[in-house]
Amino acid sequence: MKLGDFEITNRIGLGTNRLTNTRANVAFDRASVAAGVQTVDTAHPYTGGQREETIGLALHPTPEGCIVATKGGFGGPGRGRPEVLRAEIEESLRRLRTDVIQLYYLHRVDPDTPIEVSLGAIKEYVERGKIVRVGVSEVTVEQVERARKVVPIVAVQNHYNLSERKYEAVVDHCEREGIVFVPFFPLRGEARPELSRIAKKHGATARQITLAWLLRRSPAMLPIPGTLSLEHLKENLAATRIELTDEEFETLR
Ligand SMILES: NC(=O)c1ccc[n+]([C@@H]2O[C@H](COP(=O)([O-])OP(=O)(O)OC[C@H]3O[C@@H](n4cnc5c(N)ncnc54)[C@H](OP(=O)(O)O)[C@@H]3O)[C@@H](O)[C@H]2O)c1
Repeated sequence: MKLGDFEITNRIGLGTNRLTNTRANVAFDRASVAAGVQTVDTAHPYTGGQREETIGLALHPTPEGCIVATKGGFGGPGRGRPEVLRAEIEESLRRLRTDVIQLYYLHRVDPDTPIEVSLGAIKEYVERGKIVRVGVSEVTVEQVERARKVVPIVAVQNHYNLSERKYEAVVDHCEREGIVFVPFFPLRGEARPELSRIAKKHGATARQITLAWLLRRSPAMLPIPGTLSLEHLKENLAATRIELTDEEFETLR
């Protein structure tokens, strides 16, 4: 899979919005990358900025083959204004201890600011070499296309999992257009009896089957299950090795 020009061989990333800045969590970030995680997801507001700071301590300079993604513009009307975004980008650069953000998402489309205006502010940073790649989050196909008229979009991050499927058209659009689709909250949803049955057959956990289903749903899919546990992280990475049959895929669909 390609995230823009960046090759990803391990299609399970790490997302955690619950991680605070402690020594143990710095070690956890480093261990995650050592275990094979190539995409680490964060955002300006997570744990009041501590999440970005932890990554700044743990993953700077960013290890070879790994990308740190962050986001700005979350919080409701007005948060996508250029001056707000510029301030958040500057703060993210400082907290991440870097001169260059590898992937920057517009976290939400501001109802009071046209998406073109918000992305225009992000584009300024692309032109200055401070942001390499751009993504958008919680968007429709139409919004993706409006965004792409301003700046190339390499990733779309929307709420999507086995139970939450309102963005099917966005998944398909991303696949067609060579954009990576990052489903957030990939493990959420109701417990389904057929999940346990399929998991048992594969000698896997139900969560691993959920991830395997997402990976099978589209080659554009890059789930970012959040975890604070290295054991869970390794389990999640191992889901890339599970191959569901057509029948299992359709049953869960
Ligand atoms: N773009 C957006 O607007 C947006 C919004 C929300 C979230 N996100 C991103 O999406 C990421 C994922 O969301 P999330 O972390 O809240 O929710 P999630 O991925 O649905 O689930 C995380 C939960 O699953 C548990 N878990 C993970 N792997 C497990 C395993 N192998 N076995 C058992 N339990 C496991 C975690 O607990 P343990 O810690 O015990 O493993 C945690 O309780 C976030 O971290 C964030 O980066 C983005």
